Amino acid sequence: HGYDLLVVGSANADLVVGVDRRPAAGETVLGSDLAIHPGGKGANQAAAAARLGARTTLLARVGDDAYGRLLAQAQRTAGAETAGLLEGKDAPTGVALITVDSAGDNSIVVAQGANARLTPDDVAGARPLFEAAAVVSLQLEIPLETVAAAARTAAETSARVVLNPSPPAPLPEDVLALCDPLVVNEHEARRMLDQHAHDPGRHTPGGAQDGAASAEPQEPEEWATALLGIGPRSVVVTLGAEGALVAGPDGMTRVPSPRVEAVDTTGAGDAFTGALAMRLGRGDTLEQAVRYAVRVGSYTVTRAGAQESYPSAAELEKAVTAEATAR
Ligand code: RIB
Ligand code: NA
Repeated sequence: HGYDLLVVGSANADLVVGVDRRPAAGETVLGSDLAIHPGGKGANQAAAAARLGARTTLLARVGDDAYGRLLAQAQRTAGAETAGLLEGKDAPTGVALITVDSAGDNSIVVAQGANARLTPDDVAGARPLFEAAAVVSLQLEIPLETVAAAARTAAETSARVVLNPSPPAPLPEDVLALCDPLVVNEHEARRMLDQHAHDPGRHTPGGAQDGAASAEPQEPEEWATALLGIGPRSVVVTLGAEGALVAGPDGMTRVPSPRVEAVDTTGAGDAFTGALAMRLGRGDTLEQAVRYAVRVGSYTVTRAGAQESYPSAAELEKAVTAEATAR
């Protein structure tokens, strides 16, 4: 394969403000100075994989503007190829408005801009990239029909599909059936189960109330079982500081995370998925790839920003060695 990984997805400029706590509706709070970082779930995954040394390429759309150039430069700096980074004059580069609180947790609003212009035709035009890729990784900040076209093209070209349904949306059955794995955090797991429940009475939107009798899964193992029931070939549930759960036809395994001090979790999930996808592209088993990806994800939360907090293979190695020595 020419590429370990093809990422099809979004590229955003992240406009980030630190806050002590988030404002309630109608409230104004003062925050830190504004920071502008390259981001977007697709661009983040590609940057993470490329930084770690994978042969990586990104199919995405940006506008003809300064943020688009920032994103292209960030991909080149990370070592990713940018032939599939398409620039259009009809829409500005996507922007993510992000607040990061004192616990390092974020909330994000995305103005899609050019990301909404990535079409199934763009996927068809990029077929040689699919043919050259071992793995194709997808998220949902671009039109769903484009995600579906990319998954189907990956199947036609015998590339493995990794999909993170973020932000969550219902997926066509044939697309779900290609996911190997479907990668979700707890929030995405709940939403996917709500959206794909055959019996809508089975799952309470927003989660079960305390003490209420409900069939909604409570434990990650139960979510994984329920998620496997909606069709993907395998499932990975990320559990933040608790690591991740791997579930496939052969059973389930929990993978713990090293203990770290969280500064900024923005893009940690994207680094996890990018690292996972590229290790699968290099022939790891799913469990091996998850063990590697958990380390990458936890490294990134100790530093500010998304892509700028992603480690090179050498930096990751050093962190792993330091941790082992500290034990
Ligand atoms: O997952 C983090 C990313 O989500 C940010 O970089 C932001 O651009 C949004 O897409
Ligand atoms: Na970070």
